[in-house]
Amino acid sequence: MSPSRERESAAGAPHPPLEKYYPGEAQRRAFVTALFDRTARHYDGITRLMSLGSGSWYRRDALRRMGLARGNVHLLDVAVGTGQVARAARDILGETGRVTGVDLSMGMLSEARRHLACALVQGVAEKLPFADACADFVTMGYALRHVTDLASTFREYLRVLKPGGTLLILEMTRPPADTAAYRIMRFYLESVVPRMARLGPGGAETRTLMEYCWDTVNECVAPATIIETLAESGFSAPRRNVVLHVFSEYVATKPRD
Ligand SMILES: C[S@@+](CC[C@H](N)C(=O)[O-])C[C@H]1O[C@@H](n2cnc3c(N)ncnc32)[C@H](O)[C@@H]1O
Repeated sequence: MSPSRERESAAGAPHPPLEKYYPGEAQRRAFVTALFDRTARHYDGITRLMSLGSGSWYRRDALRRMGLARGNVHLLDVAVGTGQVARAARDILGETGRVTGVDLSMGMLSEARRHLACALVQGVAEKLPFADACADFVTMGYALRHVTDLASTFREYLRVLKPGGTLLILEMTRPPADTAAYRIMRFYLESVVPRMARLGPGGAETRTLMEYCWDTVNECVAPATIIETLAESGFSAPRRNVVLHVFSEYVATKPRD
């Protein structure tokens, strides 16, 4: 990312507007909603292929390492999509806890309803339709790049968490541009995955989804900006675990007082 782009994004969005897809910041949310609505039916298929089948296992593992275990807890999964994080949470909690999913795309929520028996609500991360201090855990999988503003999103997460509650954000992060890990990631996400998507049942729409995925990863603000914004929003001890050079797990806690 160029220094000027980093400055633009620092205003609050996770990446600058991507004119290749929409004209300016004001159109970002409408573009994202329409893109996920149109590709919802093919999302699980293409992400299974993209992660070579490891996505469910990895989400479950990350939730366990964050401290999720059987018990009387409420987990709120923001940007639930087709329910991949929420299903992993259900697997861990069984009947002992409660999972609620929220997403802006009705298309993704309809897909989630096909496989997930939990409360599913339409809403946005930046203004969650939930009461203060209602959740023990808040999770967000691979959607931070799509919100309009990091600080208002994090303030909402803090508001809905109970004191002592935990936030887990899973994301893909591009390694430094001069590394082999960056070149491999770029080749895979920019060239291989969109071509695989094009050949699948979703055709050109799914290809656009995957191209957009890479462009947002490539243009996203640095992890340090995310950590700093979490701290400024009131979270204590925000930290980032990195898995296989590209998977970021941001974990933070709501202070007890
Ligand atoms: C890449 S999918 C991730 C779905 C799921 N969390 C997973 O791990 O597979 C991104 C999801 O974020 C949702 N989304 C994007 N912006 C959002 C926002 N501001 N608030 C709530 N959901 C949002 C999209 O509709 C989409 O379902």
